[in-house]
Amino acid sequence: MTILDIDRIRAQFPAIAQNSGPDAPVFLDNPGGTQVPQMVIDAMTDCLINANANLGGQFKTTQAASAVVDQAHEAMADFVNAGSAQEIIFGQNMTSLTFHISRSIGNLFSEGDEIILTRMEHDANVSPWLLMARDKGLVVKWLPFETDSYEFDLDKLADLLSERTKLVCFNHASNLTGTINDVKTVTKMAHAVGALVYVDSVQYAPHGIIDVQDLGCDFLVCSPYKFFGPHMGVLWGKLDVLKRLDPYKVRPATDQLPGCFETGTLSHEGMAGVTATVEYFAQAGRDWADEHYRTRYSGTGNERRQLLCAGMHALSDYELPLTRRLIEGLQGLPGVTIHGISSSNALARRVPTISFTAEGHKPFDITAKLAKHDIFVWDGHNYAIEPVTEMGLMDKGGVVRVGLAHYNTMAEVERTIEVISAHLNG
Ligand SMILES: Cc1ncc(COP(=O)(O)O)c(C=O)c1O
Repeated sequence: MTILDIDRIRAQFPAIAQNSGPDAPVFLDNPGGTQVPQMVIDAMTDCLINANANLGGQFKTTQAASAVVDQAHEAMADFVNAGSAQEIIFGQNMTSLTFHISRSIGNLFSEGDEIILTRMEHDANVSPWLLMARDKGLVVKWLPFETDSYEFDLDKLADLLSERTKLVCFNHASNLTGTINDVKTVTKMAHAVGALVYVDSVQYAPHGIIDVQDLGCDFLVCSPYKFFGPHMGVLWGKLDVLKRLDPYKVRPATDQLPGCFETGTLSHEGMAGVTATVEYFAQAGRDWADEHYRTRYSGTGNERRQLLCAGMHALSDYELPLTRRLIEGLQGLPGVTIHGISSSNALARRVPTISFTAEGHKPFDITAKLAKHDIFVWDGHNYAIEPVTEMGLMDKGGVVRVGLAHYNTMAEVERTIEVISAHLNG
């Protein structure tokens, strides 16, 4: 198995490398946004210097900007294994993209049609659909999750599905419980009744390989700033489904995919950064993935796709013992409840986004104590108002959410457990 040189990885992230020693800041706010490697910063700077123009002209910088935009679509097509770069739509963030496309998707439906949302979602995969349902007179059905297993009971989904179901929206991984959902099975069930499937992969993307062709869904959204890139959102849509949609666009804008859904002028520097982010994972494949990983992905797409899959797999394997130790350490503290899958042999069914509460302690006070020690974590509902309400935690200040990434270390995990322990026992 590949041993990652964690010091070399951390050296690539200026925000991390600029401080060292036992008191250096600990970035465990990763589910809210990740740090960025130098190669991404360089690509963005280069774009702002050498390709800073709008698209479609005849001079050098406009042509360089067009190349940046094309390369970003190709890079994200490799990242999610899209059938073509035409299926990749860039936007400001996942939320804006979802609001935007929901307007076009809603026009496929008629009054009385049904959509299914879940109680495990970030609100960005809820509110756009609730408003679409309001505007179009659709019926909203809710899939709960089991509050003991933190997973969906798919028999309950089967009960909700009917020939009236037109759309099923759910997450690939929850930003609150960390649960990884079975996208393939849910998609098959939804497709069996003719419904479209919209998958929120924002929390999954930093930790696992996405293969939209294998998953079979119709739409999938993610946000590069959650996987070591700049603040942007990316929507993948299946080509034949996108072609059925009427884009909301200005008249002079192209009618061709994907530009017809990319309203206005995008952040070209952001797109340059996204390409470099995908390259970062491919570089991880070169640097850290040995034969064990390389052979597994050989022949699964072009060279960059193979490398980035091998790299992502190696990075997520590195995260596993950290996740295990964080969960065990928290479980050993008085009054702590982890709101997510925590059995050590079930960690493959979760991302390392770990939410907990401690009896008698406000989440806000715990994160305040951690902040005093320069350990950065989030508390509250984290926009996951459905799951937090479902678990009865809304009026208790939500949860403390600790989220690991591949640049974290075991020493940081131990330091975090120590500070929480001192707070709870103090
Ligand atoms: C699961 C999930 N979905 C959607 C979003 C919203 O993403 P964005 O900030 O790109 O709109 C987030 C952000 O935290 C998230 O965690």
